[in-house]
Amino acid sequence: MALSPGVGALPKTSAVVRLLGVFCLLLSWFPAYARFAQRPQSVALALKVGQEGSTDLYDEAHRPQFHFTSPKNWINDPNGLVFYKGEYHLFYQYNPFGVEWGHMNWGHAVSRDLIHWQNLPIALAEENGVMIFSGSAVVDWHNSSGFCHSSNSEAPTCLVAIYTGHSPKLETQNLAYSNDNGRTWTKYADNPVIDLHLGGFRDPKVFWHEDTHKWVMVTVLASQHKARLFGSTDLKHWTALSDFGPAGATSGAWEVPDLFPLPVDNESGQTKWVLSVDVTSGGVTGGAGNQYFIGSFDGTTFSADTADRTLWADYGADFYAATSFSDIPKSDGRRIWVGWLTSSEYGKVLPDAWRGAHSIPRELKLMRFADGIRLVQEPVAELRVLRQRHTRVEARSFTEANAVLQSQKVRGDTLEILAEINPGDAAECGIKVRKGDGEETLIGVDTRQSQLFVDRTRSSEYSFDPRRPTRDAGPMALASGKSLRLHIFVDRSSVEVFGDRGETVLSESIFPKLKSDGIELYSNDKQARVLSMDVWNLKSAYR
Ligand code: FRU
Repeated sequence: MALSPGVGALPKTSAVVRLLGVFCLLLSWFPAYARFAQRPQSVALALKVGQEGSTDLYDEAHRPQFHFTSPKNWINDPNGLVFYKGEYHLFYQYNPFGVEWGHMNWGHAVSRDLIHWQNLPIALAEENGVMIFSGSAVVDWHNSSGFCHSSNSEAPTCLVAIYTGHSPKLETQNLAYSNDNGRTWTKYADNPVIDLHLGGFRDPKVFWHEDTHKWVMVTVLASQHKARLFGSTDLKHWTALSDFGPAGATSGAWEVPDLFPLPVDNESGQTKWVLSVDVTSGGVTGGAGNQYFIGSFDGTTFSADTADRTLWADYGADFYAATSFSDIPKSDGRRIWVGWLTSSEYGKVLPDAWRGAHSIPRELKLMRFADGIRLVQEPVAELRVLRQRHTRVEARSFTEANAVLQSQKVRGDTLEILAEINPGDAAECGIKVRKGDGEETLIGVDTRQSQLFVDRTRSSEYSFDPRRPTRDAGPMALASGKSLRLHIFVDRSSVEVFGDRGETVLSESIFPKLKSDGIELYSNDKQARVLSMDVWNLKSAYR
């Protein structure tokens, strides 16, 4: 992949940056790194940070307080999300040696509530130059693999991880298993379990297909823009089932597929399958993005009902490689996924020891809209445990509501906001967060364009890459006189916005100063009204 013209245009004084550029060029064949190498390095150096906030671990000025980060070092995709014996397991792409992408391992953390995470030792380590790329994990409930053993008379069950082994020219699918609740892992002696003698063949997501009684694996043939499906009865021997694609967005490479069924809300008995596939470029903001298809799956073939159009799960710049939990009990019944908040791309200038964060966990649903069935996302209810000080404003003009917010000193660098607003005749209105000292992040609606947007052009001193939109927007059905709902999560270096029922979502990284913690409603028309607005300060999940 060619390095961006931006690097060539750097001033002579930037010798270090040039060296960095050559380094990036050398590394650019790495799939995840290729995206970062496209960014002018000068952009990264434009952010002045570190002069404020604490240097204590988990209290750094931009350290997320309720999003998952690793104590230190680089992380990217969430991997192997699985629920087993009361614990949610989160594995993740992890470089134990530094704050840049490389030497991929599976880092590991567990949680009982999806919010508070306990860090565990590395689960799967790079070995003999073979990196551990993204993949999934399942509970082998009936010991179909023969990997499970039990110390008592119970029928043995165990955790099985399915991951890509990456070496410079080859990607293969491999297994590892754990008989101690994920605390230690053994790589299968007969790995790989699928070898097509190809590079760009990765990111296996495995699930049990009840109707045809077998394991199904969905992978990508990245540069062919195909999802390739395989079937197995023992997780060890796999047969190719079918290919899906090219379809939808086909720029860059396809990565990190997921395939799962979801009931259509309020339509009893109606279930559809969702195939989610990321693209490394040409996403809805021009960069990397997460697209999905809705259709059916018969145990062999996925057929999309939506192949004629490209659907995006998130309209922000920073949601990628989302993957859903396996084995959430039927009594719970939720489909929950987590994505990578790709801030690591430009957040690499942070002076902190950590690099990269995950999104909040989101519950997925399908709902019918005027233009068809669409994926909707909702923050998981568990996040409510973080709620602290609460302020509620009802039935006020924006001016009156701002007076209340001010008099009650409502502000914060970690907030949850749930607002129902009526724009009246306003062409644009919304909420400013992380406001102060010339900084602000706008979350608003453009009623003329029927769009929900996040404008981070003034979020911080960070000068965004000029080739990328500084204001990202997604479609939102807005009718005259109609009110709309905004559900917003603000953290030290991100905003996630869920519009109406969660059909339009934007996730964005921002890097404001810690003391930029103001909140204010704004509108270009006096008739805009707050029907209700709840603001909670959120406590840290880490301190
Ligand atoms: C997505 C990705 C995956 C790959 C992993 C490597 O961000 O490129 O396709 O498995 O990251 O870190």
